[in-house]
Amino acid sequence: MYKLVKEGSAEIFVPVEEKISKKLPVFYNPVMKLNRDITILLLRQFPPLSICDPMAASGIRAIRLTKELSFKSIIANDYNKKSFLLIKKNMKLNNVKFVVKNMDANLLLLNSNGFDFIDIDPFGTPNNFLDAAVKRISRRGILAVTATDTAALSGTYPKATLRKYWALPKKDAMMHETGLRILIRKIQLIGAQYEKALVPIFSYSKDHYFRVFLRCDKGKSYVDEIVKMHGMLDNAGPLWLGSLWDKRLVNKMHKSCIKGSLPLNSRIKKNNKNKELINFLKIIKEESKINAVGFYDIHEIVEKEKIREIMKKEVLMKKIKDNGFKAAETHFSGTGIRSDIPYGRLAAILKKG
Ligand SMILES: C[S@@+](CC[C@H](N)C(=O)[O-])C[C@H]1O[C@@H](n2cnc3c(N)ncnc32)[C@H](O)[C@@H]1O
Repeated sequence: MYKLVKEGSAEIFVPVEEKISKKLPVFYNPVMKLNRDITILLLRQFPPLSICDPMAASGIRAIRLTKELSFKSIIANDYNKKSFLLIKKNMKLNNVKFVVKNMDANLLLLNSNGFDFIDIDPFGTPNNFLDAAVKRISRRGILAVTATDTAALSGTYPKATLRKYWALPKKDAMMHETGLRILIRKIQLIGAQYEKALVPIFSYSKDHYFRVFLRCDKGKSYVDEIVKMHGMLDNAGPLWLGSLWDKRLVNKMHKSCIKGSLPLNSRIKKNNKNKELINFLKIIKEESKINAVGFYDIHEIVEKEKIREIMKKEVLMKKIKDNGFKAAETHFSGTGIRSDIPYGRLAAILKKG
């Protein structure tokens, strides 16, 4: 049984099932709309690309990309026969055309001549698909990776992290940032083997998943620069110690989102459904300006320093700025502050009240 749903400029058939799980005959998760919105906003900042959606499920991503973006070519694939048939049906329903395949994602990628954009969006870990995706991402291309095994990356199963991501996680207030950085380093190490330097241009953690977009530079010296930026953070890692964002890109995405460029459907724009995305991008825009790996968790410091009263986040940020440092909220945690202020100075401000 299928029902019609609207997302962005697309209208598609999805299974009627109440519970979102990988047991669905064809997978569709409305929560991942934001993931797809961000993908479209980001890709709009680049010239038309050849796009591969190797795990397309209902086809929602490929259909939206076709309708909401200029592109060179789009190919959607899923090894599930039911998905394959539904993608074709949804494609017709939306009056769009792209190539649809029904094969293993790795075979599809490896048998291709490569793509400018590859979107790895599996159930759980992206590990099985990294090698083929990295091999087939073009020079200056963009590789997007979603990981939903956040528990393994964030410290719930340290042995699993070591096995799957070759690093040690840390279960604390910063675990989502360290987990995301561990994932990034793993992808970069796969790239290093093929002399491909994968530079994060937009990364985030949300709901049940991590997401990163990496630009591919080709050449040994670029790779050497990347590997130099791997190290430990607070006993977690090795992980990526470089920037998580391209500041200019984040700015452009935020601006274009405010302008209401997404989705193209004006009715949705009027209802201001993009508020969550605009706020999310605004926080990331501000934190991307701060040159600091990791953030301070106010609750953790207050507990450690035995401070009685917790200062309001806005007040604390103002005091940090008054002391000549930068400060911003972080999308990783509601109680976190990203700042270049040294720990001692911050603790002193909090103690003084
Ligand atoms: C999380 S869903 C993808 C969701 C989709 N990208 C979206 O935005 O709605 C993962 C999909 O990957 C497919 N899949 C898993 N392993 C695969 C493989 N080895 N080759 C091709 N497709 C695969 C599954 O059938 C499933 O449809």
